[in-house]
Amino acid sequence: MERFHIEGPNRLSGEVRASGAKNAALPALAACLLAEGTVHLERVPKVRDIRTMCRLLEHLGAEVTESETGFELTPNGEGQPGEAPYELVKTMRASVLVLGPLLARRGRARVSLPGGCAIGVRPIDQHLAGLEALGAEVELEHGYVEVRARQLVGARFRFGVPTVTGTENLLMAAVLARGTTVLENCAREPEIADLAALLNAMGARISGAGEDRIEIEGVTSLGGARHRVIADRIEGGTYLIGAALTGGHVHLRDAEAADLAPLLEKLAENGVEVSKTDDGIEVRCTGPLKARDVITSPHPGFPTDLQAQYMALMTQARGTATVCETVFENRFQHVPELMRMGADIQIHGRVAKIQGQTPLSGANVMATDLRASACLVLAGLAAEGETVVHRIYHLDRGYEGMELKLQALGAKVERRS
Ligand code: EPU
Repeated sequence: MERFHIEGPNRLSGEVRASGAKNAALPALAACLLAEGTVHLERVPKVRDIRTMCRLLEHLGAEVTESETGFELTPNGEGQPGEAPYELVKTMRASVLVLGPLLARRGRARVSLPGGCAIGVRPIDQHLAGLEALGAEVELEHGYVEVRARQLVGARFRFGVPTVTGTENLLMAAVLARGTTVLENCAREPEIADLAALLNAMGARISGAGEDRIEIEGVTSLGGARHRVIADRIEGGTYLIGAALTGGHVHLRDAEAADLAPLLEKLAENGVEVSKTDDGIEVRCTGPLKARDVITSPHPGFPTDLQAQYMALMTQARGTATVCETVFENRFQHVPELMRMGADIQIHGRVAKIQGQTPLSGANVMATDLRASACLVLAGLAAEGETVVHRIYHLDRGYEGMELKLQALGAKVERRS
């Protein structure tokens, strides 16, 4: 098992380019199953979750070729039953994204039910209720969900909770339904608008993606297309928080400031200098950090995927901050590890209270999920002495070459087996 050795404290300084967004590339890859032709995706990050999705698509009959600029996918396997087996779904919940496109294109899909994970129970009831509204029959048996429909029919569906992958699954099912579908209380994350841009390039008729009401006029077929995936706002946000935490100066390039607005506003409140540049964002931290509370919520609220990293920042701010996690019920697993490094944090239900300006000292820490791992790496940059972050396979699911990017920013980080 690989681990990161970090010799702190470090000051991050320099330029870093944002990779393509993992959470936009995953639904984009699944959407290729809908095409009658080849889809070229550019700026797909080379991370483990993407490789898992490619394996799943190949298992479903697709031809996947990696090129210098990205991936080319041609979905064969028409007429074959589409099944996402337990072995793949258990390693990546986002496998559930093949449900909508398989149902729409092949009339049937069988997907292993993703169980709970390190951050919460994460049911898919909304995905299934939405597919039923479009006329699908849904059966749960032996740990699998099976959906069938000879022809999906457009309908009006209101999500009980805004769900990112749920909205994406419904979009991918409704594009080939007969008639018009109206989805309400949709998730508004930028990754959803990016998926709709790809689907529209393939010939779909979607309007309103990125807002809470999306209208989809069904079409009879979709063709190939070329699409460049948006920048990863969570990856980029992690490096900006790193700059703030280490009293550094980072220019994040190829990034979209509007997608990072909730974080940038908070960093400005923390006393960090934030400015937009031609192709990205610059963050400079010269003075002391001010403690400020955050409450996570669906976009355009503060992203739950940056909560752990922000908590590392608050351990060094002047004053006390609270972090309230409202999206997932169990997303504080980084807290005991941060405390082993010297942080002073109390948890009351969904609220964590962080005492600022506690000196951090390097320690052996264990990563539990993707964003918790990023938080521990950031804490290691700020800590005195050596921090060893174990189980970085979690990090490799979503951060492209993290140690290389950090090294280029001047950090002393090494990957060792
Ligand atoms: N929910 C339901 N029923 C459903 C679907 C969701 O109750 O049918 C609940 C969830 O349990 C959760 C809330 O709704 O409490 C929001 O979950 P959502 O469905 O939006 O999450 P997701 O689609 O499974 C995506 C990202 C996550 C990110 C969340 C929230 C992808 C592949 N994953 O997950 O990313 O945290 O949205 O923004 O897009 C990560 O990258 O580290 C990560 C976990």
